[in-house]
Amino acid sequence: MKTDDVRRDIPLLNEVIYLDAASTTPTPRPVVEAMCDYFYNYNSNTGRGAYRLAIKATRELDNAREIIAKFIKSDPDEIIFTKNTTEAINIVAHGIEFQKGENIVVPNIEHHSNLVPWLNLQSQGVEVRIAKADNNGVVHPETVENLVDKNTRLVSVTHVSNSIGSVQPVDELSEIAQDNGALYLVDAAQSAGHMEVDVNKLGADFVVFPGHKGLLGPVGTGFLYCAHDSYGELEPLNLGGGTVEDVTEEDFKLTEAPSCFEGGTQNIAGFIGLGAAITYLKKIGISEVEKHTRKLTKIMYKEIQEIETVRVYGSPENIYGIVSFNIDNINPHDLAKILDELKSICVRSGYHCAIPSIKHIGAYQLGGTVRASIHYYNTREEIHELGETLKKISEFMG
Ligand SMILES: Cc1ncc(COP(=O)(O)O)c(C=O)c1O
Repeated sequence: MKTDDVRRDIPLLNEVIYLDAASTTPTPRPVVEAMCDYFYNYNSNTGRGAYRLAIKATRELDNAREIIAKFIKSDPDEIIFTKNTTEAINIVAHGIEFQKGENIVVPNIEHHSNLVPWLNLQSQGVEVRIAKADNNGVVHPETVENLVDKNTRLVSVTHVSNSIGSVQPVDELSEIAQDNGALYLVDAAQSAGHMEVDVNKLGADFVVFPGHKGLLGPVGTGFLYCAHDSYGELEPLNLGGGTVEDVTEEDFKLTEAPSCFEGGTQNIAGFIGLGAAITYLKKIGISEVEKHTRKLTKIMYKEIQEIETVRVYGSPENIYGIVSFNIDNINPHDLAKILDELKSICVRSGYHCAIPSIKHIGAYQLGGTVRASIHYYNTREEIHELGETLKKISEFMG
């Protein structure tokens, strides 16, 4: 499938220049149709009913789990459905029984969702050790190596920074965690669907995913990959219907994972949609997505960098899919508003839920940055329009 074919499946791209994939992506028609099919033709709960409608819904949900698992090279029972990436991280943060005196190593360029749950554990006597990135937002393995010791229980790192776009050396960091007997979590919120994410190659215990960003699935979906061997580390917390094998008036016996982590009714339509989204992405081909994104990222960085009064973050050799920047004398929110009003260009502005990262790159006092982020549906013409519009605004602001 070519970019134009995908654009035909996303009508809102005729109305705006959508450059905010890092927040969420527009949902292609076949994904919406798969969800409509559920709502119109077999809307029922899963795992419970003996009637045909319920059996079909259960089968479709199981099928979605299989599609997701295959895509990241895991087994279906290593996938726990969540409502977003944040919930997936919190299942790990609350599910591990941390001991006083243990430490967690986490970079300073993380999204709040991969920082706040760990900081929250400090009240239990867990130490949070912050790995400082370099000026381009890259966390060097030596930095992490210097922080890790025998009391390190977990190393948790993003694959691609959402505020800078910098790609992290996740393979080297995996080795460091393994060599030190620490658990390893990778936040794939900005890489999944944009590049290959193979959980075996990552060698991670946990990988957290949004369904609604690069994977082109609907909002309200995400999932946690938990390696078979790492399930023993996690205590399920959201207990109730669907999580138990047997119950007496005094006690209960949990079901096997992943069911014991998926209490209550699931976002059935959402995950059926996510299964359809991954099938759709596979039709495009993840290597095609990657080729397209690498090319457009370079073009976007160059166009923006050429503006006289601009300050761009990250290194062009390292960033992927995201360009974060400021223009002199204009607040990022105002700039985003002007881009929208002049040319219907949708970009994110502010701190991007990553205040320590924004402070690290020196953009906090500026009100954060403007962030343009792309996917396969974006075109060179759209990037050029962004560049030209920014140039005019910059000249006007002097
Ligand atoms: C790197 C990263 N981690 C976590 C999140 C939180 O994702 P969600 O909104 O799916 O919970 C985001 C969202 O932008 C992100 O970019």
